[in-house]
Amino acid sequence: ECYHCAANHPELCRTYPEAPTATGVQGAGDDPFISEHWQRCEAANLPSTFNMSTDGQYRVARMPLIEDAESYTMNGRPAVAKALSEDVTISHIGTMLMFHYPTTWNHMLVDHAISFRVIPIGPEETAVTTTWLVNKDAVEGVDYTVEELTHVWNMTNDQDRQIVEENAFGIRSPAYEPGPYSEAHEGGVMQFVEWYANFMTNRLQGDQAKLHAVA
Ligand SMILES: [Fe+2]
Repeated sequence: ECYHCAANHPELCRTYPEAPTATGVQGAGDDPFISEHWQRCEAANLPSTFNMSTDGQYRVARMPLIEDAESYTMNGRPAVAKALSEDVTISHIGTMLMFHYPTTWNHMLVDHAISFRVIPIGPEETAVTTTWLVNKDAVEGVDYTVEELTHVWNMTNDQDRQIVEENAFGIRSPAYEPGPYSEAHEGGVMQFVEWYANFMTNRLQGDQAKLHAVA
C-alpha cells in the first residue's frame, strides 16, 4: 500500500516525485535524474548518496524534487525566506530523506525540515506528530507564515489518515484477502516488513535465550 500518491496527494505531488526510486530502497542510483542530482549536490559538499544501515533500520538519501521546486509549497518556492543553513551554496538541493524504523521519517529541505513521529497508542490507533523546523532567526509573519509552511503536509497527513482508516475498514471485512506487494512500487514496504520480521525474531530469540539461562 504505497503507490497511492498520484491519486490522493494533489498538493504534495506538485513538488514531490512519485517515482518509487525516490522513496523506496532500490534503483535510486540507476535513475539518471537522481544520480545527476547527487553529483551536483556532492560537488557542493552536500552528502547525498543513498546510505542504509546493514540491518536496514535506517537510511538516508537526498532526492530531487520535481522540476523547479525547492520546497513543499503549492508553488514549489521556499516557504521560509531564511535558509536553514548558511553552508548550502547551491539552489534546488531537493529533500534529504531520513527514515528510522519503526517510528520516524524526516525531510530536510533548503528552507525547513519536517519530522514525523509515529507512535502506536492502541491496537487500532496511532498518533502521528509532524514538526516543522525553520532557521532559529526566521521570524513568523516576516520570513514565513505557518499556513504556507504547513499547508501541503497538513493536507497530505489528513489524506493519509483517511486512506489508512479506509484500509483498516476493508481489512476487517470477512471478504478481505491480502494481495502481493508490487516489487516495482513497494520495495520500501517489503524492506520494512523484512526489517520488522528480523528485528522481532532477534528480540524473541534473545528473550528465550535469557529465560533458558535463568532456568
Ligand atoms: Fe500517502
